[in-house]
Amino acid sequence: MRPKRIGILTSGGDAPGMNAAIRAAVRTAIHYQIKIFGFKHGYNGVINGDIIELKRNSVANTIQRGGTILGTARSTEFKTDPGMAKAKKTLKKHKIDALIVIGGDGSMKGAHEFTKKYRIKIIGLPGTIDNDLFGTDFTIGFDTAINSALEAVDKIRDTASSLERLFFIEVMGRYAGFIGLAVGLAGGAEDVLIPETPTDINGLAKQINRNIKKGKKSNIVIVSEGDEAGNAFIIGEKIKAILDEDYRVAVLGYIQRGGSPSASDRILASKLGYAAVYGLKKDMHGCMVGEINKKIVYTPFEKTYSRKKKIDPDIYTIIKILAE
Ligand code: F6P
Repeated sequence: MRPKRIGILTSGGDAPGMNAAIRAAVRTAIHYQIKIFGFKHGYNGVINGDIIELKRNSVANTIQRGGTILGTARSTEFKTDPGMAKAKKTLKKHKIDALIVIGGDGSMKGAHEFTKKYRIKIIGLPGTIDNDLFGTDFTIGFDTAINSALEAVDKIRDTASSLERLFFIEVMGRYAGFIGLAVGLAGGAEDVLIPETPTDINGLAKQINRNIKKGKKSNIVIVSEGDEAGNAFIIGEKIKAILDEDYRVAVLGYIQRGGSPSASDRILASKLGYAAVYGLKKDMHGCMVGEINKKIVYTPFEKTYSRKKKIDPDIYTIIKILAE
């Protein structure tokens, strides 16, 4: 049955483009004469009844803004039975008959649990800089994050080559290496360490040594924060123990999460925000909407977080060949 009143929330780590997705969902809902309400600070807003009606104007001038106008949270209460029960009560009180959840794997998992327990109609949107959700080629926020990281890598290269220094640059991504790989390729890094492949510290030391002997002016190694060999400081120390080479570390951190969304993120967010409302209207729920090979696809919640999205091993090969 077509919903009459839907709720929308952003959950987990914010990602550039979340506002563009909210805007698209709000305006599509209004176009189809569906009322839409925003919950503040993720699932906590549903638990506490922190709700506002969203009108066309509520999302004016937001497509270009980073962060999320609804606020977000990593709700621990929602993981508990009483928390979920309170959330269900709020939906009943406000006669919300479907929800749109924008977030990463934890948010999709929460949506799935809520659906299973109370048969709530929910559609998810992939919003995370990590790009680690199965069921979409790209997540909203990834493109902006890699561009922000790249800008920083380019700047670091200026000083790295002036002083002929070895740098370890740590990027985000939690347990996934999508950011690391993309930034490594686009930033012309000498090597990239990602959690999906085993890190060979001795091999890395040999390569850095060869590069120095060849007269390479800068040596930039991108370290994904989730690499099993350790963070950028630990890797730096391990290499120093072998090569006795002076090095510097730059942890890019939260600058990767902020800023105005790129054109690609705004386009993806607008398409998916529209597709979420369209899907609910067609009585599709219990799934996340994504884009694969330029086509909109709806993937059951469980697959989005339990299946591992694969990195492209060719990218790693290309990085190595181009850095020879
Ligand atoms: O999931 C997005 C992300 O930015 C990860 O890349 C990072 O590991 C994590 O969030 C940081 O989490 P928090 O915002 O809780 O510090």
